[in-house]
Amino acid sequence: MVAMVATKHKDWQPGEVDPLDLDLPYEPVSQPLRQPRLMKTPGVDKVAPLPNQLYEGDTVELLNQWEDKYFHSTITDPPYNIARDRKGLTWAFSSHVTIENEWDRYSSDDYEAFTTSWLKEVCRVTKENGNIFIFGSYHNIYTIGAIAARLDLRIINSIIWAKPNAQPNITCRMLTESTEQILWLCNNTNKKAKNWTYNYADMKGLNGGKQMRNFWEIPVTPQRERVHGKHPSQKPLKLMERLVLAGTNRGDRVLDCFGGSGSTLLACDRLDRKWVGIERDGEYCAIAHKRIDDERRQRRLAL
Ligand SMILES: C[S@@+](CC[C@H](N)C(=O)[O-])C[C@H]1O[C@@H](n2cnc3c(N)ncnc32)[C@H](O)[C@@H]1O
Repeated sequence: MVAMVATKHKDWQPGEVDPLDLDLPYEPVSQPLRQPRLMKTPGVDKVAPLPNQLYEGDTVELLNQWEDKYFHSTITDPPYNIARDRKGLTWAFSSHVTIENEWDRYSSDDYEAFTTSWLKEVCRVTKENGNIFIFGSYHNIYTIGAIAARLDLRIINSIIWAKPNAQPNITCRMLTESTEQILWLCNNTNKKAKNWTYNYADMKGLNGGKQMRNFWEIPVTPQRERVHGKHPSQKPLKLMERLVLAGTNRGDRVLDCFGGSGSTLLACDRLDRKWVGIERDGEYCAIAHKRIDDERRQRRLAL
């Protein structure tokens, strides 16, 4: 079954702020939550997270407390394990942000163990046959793919995000890296995977009436999306909206368990999906919070 994006306003294009949201009352996003322990009812093992909430905390610890099969889909961008102890080379005057953060530094064994533990939890809290989209670069995507294969998850596609304005390569000893990958998994075994959501007609519509391919040329995050603060691996909204439109439906519950500056969450908010985010760093939570709140305010002002 192909689901169409319902449009009430004729001139609305998928990927723009959805005017249907303007009919909703303005609802400020609450401050990032820490999991309230009291949500647990006696006799019930797990709890449901609140919709449209960003939780500040550790992914595995929080997911571990949440109900099975709660989310329709997961879209997430885990640490890439590319931060190094030394400071990398950068172009003078470049606005490019390099990753030097502790959260992105693991030994190979620790990275495998960490990836296996969060991916297993994501599979548990995502519905059977639900979509799981995972971002990565050549540094980590093969590790994640190997773990997905070990867990016998069906790989639907590997989407290539090609950045036409990727920053130049300073050493000149290799090709300029200008892509990232998005692994699209169906939350079921290779044999049993079926009926995953793919909004074929919407994707074809976005691609001028031709079938959408898995090579998506989209510029890196523009400065206007960084006005509330910078995150070193912030993804562009155009890319996140395309993923949300491709693999989820209106009203779906979508998880991003490595929320960062909230790009997945904001794309879901624009497109009328219920989102739940997890992010360990309070500063990134604050950026995500400001981005969503500010946009909701602006939507109301535009009325
Ligand atoms: C690659 S970034 C996500 C960027 C995001 N897609 C965006 O557009 O801003 C990964 C994020 O995961 C967070 N993180 C790393 N380890 C975590 C953990 N164990 N639990 C929760 N968040 C974690 C980091 O703080 C970082 O913000």
